[in-house]
Amino acid sequence: FKTLDALQPKGRKVLLRADLNVPVRDGQITDLTRIERLAPTIRELADKGARVIVVSHFDRPKGQRVPAMSLEPIATALGTILGRPVRFAEDCIGPVAEQAVASLQDGDVLVLENTRFHAGEEKNDPELSKALAALADDYVNDAFSAAHRAHASTEGVARFLPSFAGRLMEAELNALNVALENPVRPVGAIVGGAKISTKLDLIGNLLDRVDVLIIGGAMANTFLAAKGVAVGKSLQEADMHDTARAIMAKAASQNCEIILPVDAVTATEFRADPPTKTVPVDAVPADAMILDAGPETVRLLTEKIVGLKTLVWNGPLGAFELHPFDTATNLVAAEVARRTQAGQLTSVAGGGDTVSALRHAGVADEMSYTSTAGGAFLEWLEGKTLPGIQALSELSERILPL
Ligand code: 3PG
Repeated sequence: FKTLDALQPKGRKVLLRADLNVPVRDGQITDLTRIERLAPTIRELADKGARVIVVSHFDRPKGQRVPAMSLEPIATALGTILGRPVRFAEDCIGPVAEQAVASLQDGDVLVLENTRFHAGEEKNDPELSKALAALADDYVNDAFSAAHRAHASTEGVARFLPSFAGRLMEAELNALNVALENPVRPVGAIVGGAKISTKLDLIGNLLDRVDVLIIGGAMANTFLAAKGVAVGKSLQEADMHDTARAIMAKAASQNCEIILPVDAVTATEFRADPPTKTVPVDAVPADAMILDAGPETVRLLTEKIVGLKTLVWNGPLGAFELHPFDTATNLVAAEVARRTQAGQLTSVAGGGDTVSALRHAGVADEMSYTSTAGGAFLEWLEGKTLPGIQALSELSERILPL
C-alpha cells in the first residue's frame, strides 16, 4: 500500500479515517492515547495544505443517532491536542457534511459525526461508502485499531478513492512486522487473560511463529488442570482440557517451548488485599484460587526473557486490577521495559487489557511499541487478514467510479 509519502495533498480534500473511539466515563475522556497518536498524521496533512476531513465511529449506537455517542466532545479534545481549530459537522454525509466540506480552506481540519449513526456503516453499504468518498479527493486510513472491521468507512470507501495509509497505521504495521513476520530470534510471546476458548486461534498461530510461549493469567490454570494439577477453586475451563493438551503436544512437536507458572499467589476470596498464600502450583489449597503468578514464576519468566531478542505481549499474568495480584505483571513488565530500554529486546504489546496492565505497571511507554488496538491487534496475532488493510493494498489499485 501507499503511505503519505506518495500523496501531495496541497489543496486536496482528504478523507481521514481515524479511530476516535476513546474510553469515556461520566462524559470525560479517560485516555487520550488514540487521539495523541493520531495527531501527527493530521498535522502533516494540514501543514502540507490538505483540507482534512476526519471520520470515525464512536461506541456502538447501532445505526441510531444517540446523542451521548456524538463525536463532538472528542472533536473538541482533538482541537486541544492539535493546538488548532477543529470544526465539527453534525452528520458524516449529506448536505450538512457537504456544506462543511465546501467551506474548508487549505490546512483546515473538520471532524464529521459518528459514522455508526448510519446503519450502512457496519453493513458496509456501498451507498454510504460512495457518499463518504464523494466528499473527498483522497482517502487516508489511520485507524489500524478499526481495521478488523469491514465497514463502509474502513473498507468500502477504499474502492472509490485513491487510498493511503496514515502515519499511525504505518507505525502499527511496521511494529507488527518486526514482532512476528520478520522477528529477530529467539522470539517469544506472553499470552495472558482469562480464557483459552477466546484465544485458540491466537495460540495456534503463535505456536507456528514463536520459540517460547509464556502462558499466564487464568488461562494458565486450564493448562495446569489439563496436566492433572489440582487448581482448587481457580477460574478454569474444564471443557478445554483436551484442547490444552493438544496445544501442548503440538508445541512439543514443533520445538515451541510452552512456559506455565510454577508457583501461585492464592486467596479464598477475590477482593483487594485479602489474606494470601503463595504455594507451588501443585499445592493450591482446595478452597483457594490462583490470582497471580508467584515469585518463582517471575524468576523463571525473567530468565526466559533474558534469552529473547523479540517479545510480543498480550494479556496480564494475574488479576492485576486488584492489589497484590498485580505483582507478577508489574515485575515482568519492569524487566521487559528494562531490557527494551537497554537495547537488548524488541517488545511489542497490545490488545485488550494489556495496555492498561502496562500503564498500571508504569511502563506502557517503555516498550518498543505499544499498539493502540484491541480487537484488531488480537486478530492480527491470530494471523487473520484485516479487511481495512487489505482494502488499502488491493482495492485502491482498482478505483471504481462514484
Ligand atoms: C476498538 O476500540 O477496538 C475499535 O475502535 C473497534 O471498536 P468496535 O469493537 O466497536 O468495532
